[in-house]
Amino acid sequence: MITIRPFEEKDREKVQALCIENAKIDETDENLKQFILLMYCNYYIEQEPENCFVAVDENDEVVGYTYCAENCDVYEQKFTEIYLPQAFALSLKYYIDAKLDIITHTMFRKQYPAHLHIDIFDAYQGQGIGSKLLETLKQHLMGKGVRSLMLVCGSDNDGAIRFYERNGYEQLITTHLGTALGIVF
Ligand SMILES: CC(C)(COP(=O)(O)OP(=O)(O)OC[C@H]1O[C@@H](n2cnc3c(N)ncnc32)[C@H](O)[C@@H]1OP(=O)(O)O)[C@@H](O)C(=O)NCCC(=O)NCCS
Repeated sequence: MITIRPFEEKDREKVQALCIENAKIDETDENLKQFILLMYCNYYIEQEPENCFVAVDENDEVVGYTYCAENCDVYEQKFTEIYLPQAFALSLKYYIDAKLDIITHTMFRKQYPAHLHIDIFDAYQGQGIGSKLLETLKQHLMGKGVRSLMLVCGSDNDGAIRFYERNGYEQLITTHLGTALGIVF
């Protein structure tokens, strides 16, 4: 039995483990792991934990998550202040990658000020959990007066693109940095 609930600090390690697992990287590369976490996890659970939701099993163990940055301007400012220096400390390449990532997540800022990330452990994919997480996040954001949401995923991630389109998202643009999709509610 899977339930969706707000993120709690005790979920941190499992959420980070899922973020790394689904990045499909060389997990012996510690620098790359740190980079993936600071880019795709730590900002959200540290700066906007109220916008993070987890799917948990009957033992209250995380099997999936979604989280979002609610407002581009706040995200850009805090990310630049706190996380960009961490990327720079890892390498110049990661710093440039991080700057590009900020651009991809803020280029539609007028219509889509909020963006999300989502991941489900392999064994739990294709069971409707991702769709429930998206719906939970949408209802939560609507309650705060947020009316749209976007994300960027790999252009070759056909399964994920199909998943977002089935959940009402439309493709906005594809560049060499990925495909942006958005939904207005
Ligand atoms: C993409 C993802 C979040 C979707 O969550 P989910 O719980 O598996 O999706 P749901 O069960 O709610 O919806 C299933 C639909 O998603 C799509 N889908 C994408 N990846 C899938 C997968 N690995 N298994 C099954 N369906 C998948 C299919 O279109 C499917 O619809 P269909 O069964 O009618 O073809 C999840 O599969 C996942 O974490 N994948 C790996 C990491 C990833 O790509 N994350 C997103 C990065 S932008």
